[in-house]
Amino acid sequence: MKYALTVNGERREVDVPPTSPLLWVLRDDLELTGTRYGCGRGQCGACFVLADGRAVASCLTTVEQVARGGMEITTVEGLAQGDRLHPLQQAFIDEDAMQCGYCTSGMLIGAAALLEQDPQPDEEAIRAAMAAHLCRCGVYGRVIRAIQKVGAG
Ligand code: FES
Ligand code: FES
Repeated sequence: MKYALTVNGERREVDVPPTSPLLWVLRDDLELTGTRYGCGRGQCGACFVLADGRAVASCLTTVEQVARGGMEITTVEGLAQGDRLHPLQQAFIDEDAMQCGYCTSGMLIGAAALLEQDPQPDEEAIRAAMAAHLCRCGVYGRVIRAIQKVGAG
């Protein structure tokens, strides 16, 4: 089936089965490999993207759902404005909030969705939002600091 999707502000066309997970459409068909595969079950946060500003697991979201809902998808590649990093990306660098980096794109998406809803979240709100994201390297403390830094303006 042919689908027209809006990804990072651009209209993209794909020809894939309706049940194709958005994760694989992004990675394999649109070559947006910043979105990662972790568990495939909605439990690790590695594959999160923004769908109309809300963080969703792209491993559990089908291309059909995205197209039917007319959802605007933003991946980690879409956070920066040209050469200018998103403030969260800069804060993650400044706070060294990554080790292997595997969880980082999902964490950035989760944090961006949080700040969209709550521009100045307290630590409890940050912890609650980031609970959806697993990090095998254990950089949680630094991630919280990075998000606080942006939230504090
Ligand atoms: S790969 Fe989607 S939540 Fe883990
Ligand atoms: S930085 Fe390695 S999984 Fe999070």
